[in-house]
Amino acid sequence: MKRRSFLKMSGLSAGTVITGGTVTGFLASCSGCKKEHHRGLMTEPVMVSEGDFSKLLSFASLAGVNHTLTAQSTTANLKGTNIPVLGYQPNSLLGPSFRINKGDAVNILLQNNLSEHTNIHWHGLKIPALMDGHPDQLANAGGTFRYQFTVNQRAGLSWYHPHPHQMTGKQVFQGLAGLFIINDAEEAALNLPSGQFELPLVIQDKRISSNDITYNPSMEEVMAGYMGESILVNGVYSPYIGVSTRYYRLRILNGSNARVYNLALSNNADLIIIGNDGGLLKNPSSVKEILIAPGERLDVLVNFAGNAIGTEIFLLSKEFPNGGEAQGKQQFQIMKFKVTASVTDSFTVAATLSNVSTVPASSAVKTRTFEISNAMEHHGVPMNDGMQMRHRINGKLFDSSRIDETVAANTNEIWVFDNSNGDEPHPMHLHGVFFQVMQRTGGRGRLIASEGAWKDTVLVMPGETVSVIVPFENNTGKFVFHCHNLEHEDDGMMLQYLLS
Ligand code: C2O
Ligand code: CU
Ligand code: CU
Repeated sequence: MKRRSFLKMSGLSAGTVITGGTVTGFLASCSGCKKEHHRGLMTEPVMVSEGDFSKLLSFASLAGVNHTLTAQSTTANLKGTNIPVLGYQPNSLLGPSFRINKGDAVNILLQNNLSEHTNIHWHGLKIPALMDGHPDQLANAGGTFRYQFTVNQRAGLSWYHPHPHQMTGKQVFQGLAGLFIINDAEEAALNLPSGQFELPLVIQDKRISSNDITYNPSMEEVMAGYMGESILVNGVYSPYIGVSTRYYRLRILNGSNARVYNLALSNNADLIIIGNDGGLLKNPSSVKEILIAPGERLDVLVNFAGNAIGTEIFLLSKEFPNGGEAQGKQQFQIMKFKVTASVTDSFTVAATLSNVSTVPASSAVKTRTFEISNAMEHHGVPMNDGMQMRHRINGKLFDSSRIDETVAANTNEIWVFDNSNGDEPHPMHLHGVFFQVMQRTGGRGRLIASEGAWKDTVLVMPGETVSVIVPFENNTGKFVFHCHNLEHEDDGMMLQYLLS
């Protein structure tokens, strides 16, 4: 049923705004439920309003192996005004970018100067469970948490952000996040564009008022995910950067709560995809557009050679089909590259980037299927908490006292995310591991260029079923896996596996 008739059935007027996050209990009286009763409770898309791309892009400061991150209320200059935000350092929306070499031991103190608990999840790092920012492992208001671990994985772009259950969406949206870049010898041997030619780009949408970054999802925004009208790159609204006529390496994180981007260049130049969440791909792959969901990363080469000085090229998000009711409806500009210098460039893209071997399906000892379709589809699973419109996995909501899946160490498993009856995109993320995407049926019906090698987050669009193969190795302990639409996650679309 459509939004209007839902509101009628529920006794609300179309102007009613439910604030406070979840819709728990809101539908508690709904009986004789049919699945179609609950479809169509979706927000309208939040349209992006572009600026004039006149503010110079900036980059986070760099941090090394010893560092203190102080979560705090501070201010940042957004759209020309200083507004209250959350930060890991004063006067800044995002935390510093860690640059770490493979093999380094890191020692990072989280000082929590917020008035509520928080923690840090190191998204993309294979580290012990107690260092991973599990929602149980918190720094209380005024307290600290010391993260100590050794980085023992290949080069790649990871990131960090809070993970306290039901507060992740708000804390990330209001500014808490940062990059974690790992370098290694394999990557260095490729001589990829570096220094001023390597651009880390954190893309986020925010809802900016003159008083704050507003985070107050309505019931409908819990369903669709919370989106903003202002697109920021590295915390800068509507930015530009000057570039030379040569190759650049763009290292892109979608750090948005819910918004999916379909990246492309306004001059229709190639995006040469060389890496993703888990580091380098086996081979580069050139595309004209590519989807990136919240939590996903892209390593992209772009060649500005052949453009006259003064040429302006935009990084865009194009429209895309099948994004549910709230996503993919609008093309908009994200940032501007302005060609300012003519240079000669001898860089060539290597045909082979990395030796990544494919994990054979036959090595899997078990297949687990996770039903992630629309919140109210029961599929025979009795809802023992009454009829509530919530995002679930296999009919379940997050409960940190319950282990949902027990996995044997040093085994490979196939995990299947089934959104075949769903009408919303769900980027599914596993902590503690990387996986290989094996197959997508329904929807796009194929893997895309960024889905080779190793991933930790995979986008499952409406109608799709995606299978991944996961080598679990021996990093034992309790980890979460969840949808990386942060409103879905906070709403309970998160379960736990115990590796033992
Ligand atoms: Cu970036 Cu559990 O998430
Ligand atoms: Cu119902
Ligand atoms: Cu989701």
